[in-house]
Amino acid sequence: MCGIVAATAQRDVAPLLIAGLKALEYRGYDSSGVAVLGQGEIRRVRAKGKVREMELLYHADPIPGGTGIAHTRWATHGVPSEANAHPHVAGRVAIVHNGIIENYASLRAELQAEGHVFTSETDTEVMAALIDRCIDRGMTLREAVLSTVRELEGAYAIAVVSRDEPGRVVGARRGAPLLVGVGIGENFLGSDAQALIQVTNKMIYLDEGDVVEISRNSVEVFGLDGRPVERGVHESELSTDAVERGEYRHYMQKEIFEQPRAVADTLEARIGPHGVLPNIFGIDSDALLQRTRGLHIIACGTSYHAGMVAKYWIEEYARLPVSVEVASEYRYREAVVPADTLFVAISQSGETADTLAALRESRRRGYLGTLVICNVPESSLVREADLKLMTRAGPEIGVASTKAFTTQLAGLALLALDLARRNGLDLQRYEALCAELQHLPRAIEDALKLEPAIIELSAEFIHHQHALFLGRGAQYPVALEGSLKLKEISYIHAEAYPAGELKHGPLALVDEDMPVVAVAPNGPLLDKLKSNLQEVRARGGRLIVFADGSAGMDDMAHHGAMLRVESGGSFIAPAVFTVPLQLLAYHVAVLRGTDVDQPRNLAKSVTVE
Ligand code: M6R
Repeated sequence: MCGIVAATAQRDVAPLLIAGLKALEYRGYDSSGVAVLGQGEIRRVRAKGKVREMELLYHADPIPGGTGIAHTRWATHGVPSEANAHPHVAGRVAIVHNGIIENYASLRAELQAEGHVFTSETDTEVMAALIDRCIDRGMTLREAVLSTVRELEGAYAIAVVSRDEPGRVVGARRGAPLLVGVGIGENFLGSDAQALIQVTNKMIYLDEGDVVEISRNSVEVFGLDGRPVERGVHESELSTDAVERGEYRHYMQKEIFEQPRAVADTLEARIGPHGVLPNIFGIDSDALLQRTRGLHIIACGTSYHAGMVAKYWIEEYARLPVSVEVASEYRYREAVVPADTLFVAISQSGETADTLAALRESRRRGYLGTLVICNVPESSLVREADLKLMTRAGPEIGVASTKAFTTQLAGLALLALDLARRNGLDLQRYEALCAELQHLPRAIEDALKLEPAIIELSAEFIHHQHALFLGRGAQYPVALEGSLKLKEISYIHAEAYPAGELKHGPLALVDEDMPVVAVAPNGPLLDKLKSNLQEVRARGGRLIVFADGSAGMDDMAHHGAMLRVESGGSFIAPAVFTVPLQLLAYHVAVLRGTDVDQPRNLAKSVTVE
């Protein structure tokens, strides 16, 4: 999704802005640009494609100046092109924007009627023209931004400069993230802490509707009504090392291998020898969880799959009803909310537009309270929820979620156990499940040792155009997650089914060209799954089975491949069996030569609807 960096300093800012954009590349984008204000004029450089292409143009003709704005664009209005790339300029103003302005067409028509000529198809250029018009009418840059954003419907994070006010940048946010980086004699704006950590670790997180004005020596924040507001300065714990790739070929590979540590960190000081510790979801969370009689879990993509696993766990161990729904559907339908239902949102980024909108929508639907499971402290979701549990995965740069998923599962397992104990799960069983969960980092470590075997397996996958993933029970969401990983980074079409559904349609697809990946740890449904796999065998389908050595599974190897995964127990098996599927997707993508960390058309954090 689009990324913003802005700076005002005593030194030339273009190199800082370009470095900031590189730190934002992980979000996904298709063009980039920088505009610098120097010697009374705004000069810009923009290019379609990667930041390094824009950087080459910049080096050919550097732009000196101490104030500037920069952007990576993920196309919404208009194709990826230099003309549509930000910054956009109108008159004396240049702007970068993340979000979608819903009423831009009528505003554009109004400006065109006044004679304004647009050079791009974007909604952003309309904002630039509106701000410039306000300045024409005698407003300062900050007043012009305030007046303009009041006219907008939709979501925005913006950074704006004006030729008339050198040394000043005005930013604003509503529905898209923006924060301030506070330096010494220089200040910055950015879409996230990663963009700014190279220049400062002091951050001010802006609230919805805030407008901020920065100069070299000042940061002033205003509400939408124009009145000054106080926002605290936080020290970010992010380290520059955490966003480096190290010895790994891709961030995704690094993040897959970080999982034992990330899961251990997520469990640390939250579960002890006698079980889940009190109030781990926030002060007074115990009282609220005690009253919880059901849960609605809302999320998107990979986070939604984590929620689906949690449904199996919570219903089995806590005996509470759970519904799980993708946020983009939930927000627009009239869900029935039984009394004492807890709303749970799951998100890696905490900024996903649909999930955030669903959380806000939940406020008027009469829930007992809201809980968020998230990886980014200070994200919008975390700040707006009643209860929170931070996954401690560290920055996830690869667009394909890996460690975010397994740490979400760790957090959801804590929730399931906490609710199970409150709702009468037998103590002995509870303690056995707690011990199993504490073993999860080790079990993931063991699963990672399968990498050499998976590399071999990947070679045969690369010529296929389709694949089926099968699982039963809590392994069905794992199959969904495996197929999502494969499709998003290798571009192989993959579908996942609960294996019992095979004969109700998808079996028609099975032949020797259709690899069928089965997630098959031991458990009550294993025999049923075996029968489903026999149906595949009988149609000449090639099986790739991930199993834990249970009786009868070796036989499947004669019709394909069988890889043995030590699950560490059926409770944690979904998290453990995810790991080989991540490795499979990763190595298939590497062999197919795709852009693993930034797959085409995708953004890391989907901050627009
Ligand atoms: O940041 P979130 O967890 O809210 O993001 C949700 C999805 O966009 C995300 O999980 C997406 O599906 C991943 N790229 C999948 O790997």
